[in-house]
Amino acid sequence: MKTGALIIGLGAALPSRRLTNQELEKLVDTSDEWITQRTGIKERRIVGPGESNSKLAVKAARQALERAGISPEELDLIIVGTLTPDYLMPSVAVLVQKELGAHRAGAFDLSATCSGFIYGLAVADQFVRVDPERKILVIGSEVLSKKVNWQDRTTCVLFGDGAGAAVVTGSYNENRGLLSAHLHADGSLWHLLTLKGCGSLYPPCGDELPLEEYYIRMQGREVFKNAVRAMETVALEALSANDLSPEDIDLVVPHQANIRIIEYLRERLGLPREKVFVNLHKYGNTSAASIPIALAEAQEEGRLNPGDLVLMVAFGGGFTWASALMRW
Ligand code: ACO
Repeated sequence: MKTGALIIGLGAALPSRRLTNQELEKLVDTSDEWITQRTGIKERRIVGPGESNSKLAVKAARQALERAGISPEELDLIIVGTLTPDYLMPSVAVLVQKELGAHRAGAFDLSATCSGFIYGLAVADQFVRVDPERKILVIGSEVLSKKVNWQDRTTCVLFGDGAGAAVVTGSYNENRGLLSAHLHADGSLWHLLTLKGCGSLYPPCGDELPLEEYYIRMQGREVFKNAVRAMETVALEALSANDLSPEDIDLVVPHQANIRIIEYLRERLGLPREKVFVNLHKYGNTSAASIPIALAEAQEEGRLNPGDLVLMVAFGGGFTWASALMRW
């Protein structure tokens, strides 16, 4: 029987260094009150010496593999959603492959910003629908602290570092696994959220680009408007494609960017607070890592149980946006 992807193990890794809103008050003209009210974020985790994107990814992957009861040699493929790789070459995925000793696995990075984990899950789903025995590691991992301008209060308060990982295999049970994934993009709005410097158009040694373009730049209000609209639409698209309604959902695991975006989605779906997972107060926006970290924490808290209907929804730079509906 050929059925969709099932997540059989989850893991997360966060740097130990906490950066609080109070500490940010000393860096830029901001306040704990503004950040809390406008975003819901209280603190975020930041890498220290010896920590990196690939090291966080490996740590999250080891936990996910252990919980899945799978050895690295059994892996067929490693996909890492990231916009902050250690290097432009090689990928984070091959560094993870080497560290784990996953000798049989192919490995590649996937660039879809904050939607990277759902995009990765959708790719893994295609592989396991062909052969349900395949074992695939889907990771979201970011070190955004190295790509924010610590003098720009409109971005530096928002982001954090971390990694989350999921072991995916075929479900063999038509009542469990990925019911659908919907992926979208609109490149015409790329200029609203950018990280231009160090790409091949603007290599680091050139002087044609202003220094601030080597960091994340965002027109926050425009991103916000597009995010709320797109996340609602793609959530409803997932439900309608499966003849389900919001009341059927047991848990929404949204991308953790801003509590106001999450609250808007919750209200539009008419769901109570306990059906929407939120941890952005602790970690800020960790881009591709936010959904797998949230899934791992939700499972630790006993909020993901066999048979639960779980809706994942993301939105990010590009723009990209996506939803995945999974019967746990
Ligand atoms: N502290 C204090 N004041 C601030 C700060 C700050 N950290 N940042 C901005 N302000 C000021 C602005 O300068 C502005 O002042 P003005 O009115 O005098 O000009 C005022 O606060 C309001 O600014 P806005 O940008 O309108 O604030 P808004 O309510 O839109 O909140 C925010 C900004 C939090 C960035 C919001 O727009 C947002 O969350 N946007 C979406 C972000 C997102 O979802 N990103 C997802 C993708 S991320 C990715 O793909 C990597």
